[in-house]
Amino acid sequence: MTASWNGDIMAKEARRIQVFREIGIAEWTMDMTRIWQVEPDASEAHPFLLEAGAVLARGGTVAFPTETVYGLGANACDTKAVESIFTAKGRPSDNPLIVHIADAGQLDELVERVDDTSRRLIDELWPGPLTLVLPARAGAVSPRVTAGLATVAVRMPAHPVALALIRAAGLPLAGPSANRSGRPSPTTAAHVLDDLDGRIDGIVDGGPTGVGLESTVALVDSDGSRIRVLRPGGVSVERLREAAPPGTAVEVEASAEAVEAPLSPGMKYTHYAPRGRLVVVEGDAKLTVPWALKSLAEAKRRGERTGVLTVREHSGLYDADLVVPCGSAGDMEEAARGLYAALRKFDEAGIGYIVAEGYDLPQRMQGIGLAFANRLYKAAGHRIVRL
Ligand code: TXA
Ligand code: MG
Repeated sequence: MTASWNGDIMAKEARRIQVFREIGIAEWTMDMTRIWQVEPDASEAHPFLLEAGAVLARGGTVAFPTETVYGLGANACDTKAVESIFTAKGRPSDNPLIVHIADAGQLDELVERVDDTSRRLIDELWPGPLTLVLPARAGAVSPRVTAGLATVAVRMPAHPVALALIRAAGLPLAGPSANRSGRPSPTTAAHVLDDLDGRIDGIVDGGPTGVGLESTVALVDSDGSRIRVLRPGGVSVERLREAAPPGTAVEVEASAEAVEAPLSPGMKYTHYAPRGRLVVVEGDAKLTVPWALKSLAEAKRRGERTGVLTVREHSGLYDADLVVPCGSAGDMEEAARGLYAALRKFDEAGIGYIVAEGYDLPQRMQGIGLAFANRLYKAAGHRIVRL
């Protein structure tokens, strides 16, 4: 898989360089999206990262890999730069952004205070896929980052390239997922290019991301007694419980099925949904497979193009226009890693009706399973058949 997406992106880049040479332009112009390919463990001394960092310091927008999904970075303190993120993505302006930092010292400049529980989570889980919502220090970042809230969401990503880029830029980076609003988050540089080519200054391509779903967003009550999970993600609820001081309550505000959590403005927006109708079917495979076959046959008779999202072991069972295996049965981590890439394929193939095998998802809502179910149910607009 790595070879093919890398091949795709390099072929596209090579074609563009050729066109540039033919028309006699040696330098990249500002409306071109530059691609810097680096090793997944590149350091801030890498010349490409220094260059990308300089673009950010000048107020540009650069997409970069994190351990969760690709982010679209801009200087969090520069309102004009932050505005270009909203424009490039087509993102509603009242949805605040996460600020990415590389060193603990950067946190003190951004926030008013850090309660003991948050401090403990930071010590245990950063760098890592945990975003903490903390009281913002007035004027520390552009008001466009916080959407006027008194809090700021901060995270330190566990990806060497992300950390190196933040250091090379010398700035805290505002960074939402690097997709067009309404599309799945990108897990490869090729996804970013598909959505944002020509709309951003550059993409640092450090290979496919690891977790595949976004970070956990959490808010600690001001007295430190309770952690509220506003968005399930890369750090599981179980891991938060382990890391928190003994006796701290951990509550999930946005359960797998919640459509909206008013505390996290992002949760109120329509999330990615494929252009086709997606239905999740859950239960024993003895029941779900025949149900899926019947319902796919009906869709076909109606003249719709059909698709199935399933596990590798079952991909031979279906007769559909597009069958996409997403990991193997029982491996939620692999499924999480592949979910967004799988969902993109149905739109590319113009599929009108999609059945997603949900198996025993309700029993698998531990670990990354909770975030996986949350994103899949949202993509399905909560159309779930339980057998
Ligand atoms: O893994 C991730 O978190 C990725 C990578 C790039 O870091 N980023 C990401 O950003 O998913 P985005 O913008 O797609 O999602 C940010 C979420 C939204 O749901 C937003 O509403 C919430 O964080 N958020 C940001 N600031 C907040 C705040 N002050 N209070 C509550 N929620 C906030
Ligand atoms: Mg997003």
